[in-house]
Amino acid sequence: MLSTINYLLQLLITFISVICVSHSHLAGKIIDHDRTVVNCGKYKREANQHSCVLTPFNPEGPYFLPDDLHRSTINEQEKGKPLHLEINLVDANDCKPLENMFIHIWHANALGIYSGVDNNYKVPKYLKGLTIGGPGDSGMGPGVGRPKAISNNRACRGYQVTNSEGQVNFNTIIPGWYGARCLHIHVEVFHGNTTELNNIIYVTQIYFHRDLPSKLLWSEPYFQNDHQIFLNDQDGIYLFHGNETTVDLLETNGHYSTSITFGINPKASKKDHQNLTSNSLKGKNI
Ligand SMILES: *[C@@H]1O[C@H](CO)[C@@H](O)[C@H](O)[C@H]1NC(C)=O
Ligand SMILES: *[C@@H]1O[C@H](CO)[C@@H](O)[C@H](O)[C@H]1NC(C)=O
Repeated sequence: MLSTINYLLQLLITFISVICVSHSHLAGKIIDHDRTVVNCGKYKREANQHSCVLTPFNPEGPYFLPDDLHRSTINEQEKGKPLHLEINLVDANDCKPLENMFIHIWHANALGIYSGVDNNYKVPKYLKGLTIGGPGDSGMGPGVGRPKAISNNRACRGYQVTNSEGQVNFNTIIPGWYGARCLHIHVEVFHGNTTELNNIIYVTQIYFHRDLPSKLLWSEPYFQNDHQIFLNDQDGIYLFHGNETTVDLLETNGHYSTSITFGINPKASKKDHQNLTSNSLKGKNI
């Protein structure tokens, strides 16, 4: 618990410093990637709007396994409320769909457990400089890699390649809660069949509305999840623009579905991103 709190505090400190150097966002102006809205399609292309908006980043977190599987149905044996998740990727420079992009998602099961990894993540003592992540950057801080797999279980993990509409579809379950985090699904995007940290193009987390845990709480198997529930506003990572990647769920007979559009810059380089996060925000649109 203490390590989780430390982790959260570190994130908050990092985020506060990022927020302080950011600029407010206005439709029709160049917009910094970390101050933006999700669906560029919903904004009028005013004459002065030479750029679409970019969706905020969120860090990769400590539980990504790069050897996930190419598939649309990812929950395997995991039970929970069925969720159909449609993700659309658009180029934030012109709002065009991005084809042939590899989109990985992963999330906890209904009991708040990630498959294939030790779920007792300990913040490494040397962990400094946590960020929101971005191109070529998981956000986990310099020298911090991915977890070691402890089994072959890859439930609630998988990737898809975007079609000509920039779209992928996943079938899974609504995740469960676990220490210090509100409900979320991790997302990471690559140009091709690679998962190298240096090749990350986009990294974020999808969130749900605040009241969802209270709806799930009395249904199986969520009922058996004895982790403490953290609501959106109690989660330091959500507080970094998580409201911009929060989805509305449609429910039909206990089956949920949703869709989200991410505006990203497919050409952003690690260097662009480093320049941006190192205090030279002015006039940049990474
Ligand atoms: C990506 O590479 C892996 C490992 O070589 C392979 O198993 C998989 O089929 C590839 N995926 C696609 C979509 O080509
Ligand atoms: C998210 O919160 C920020 C800060 O309160 C606000 O400016 C923005 O409009 C919100 N976005 C959405 C999609 O609600």
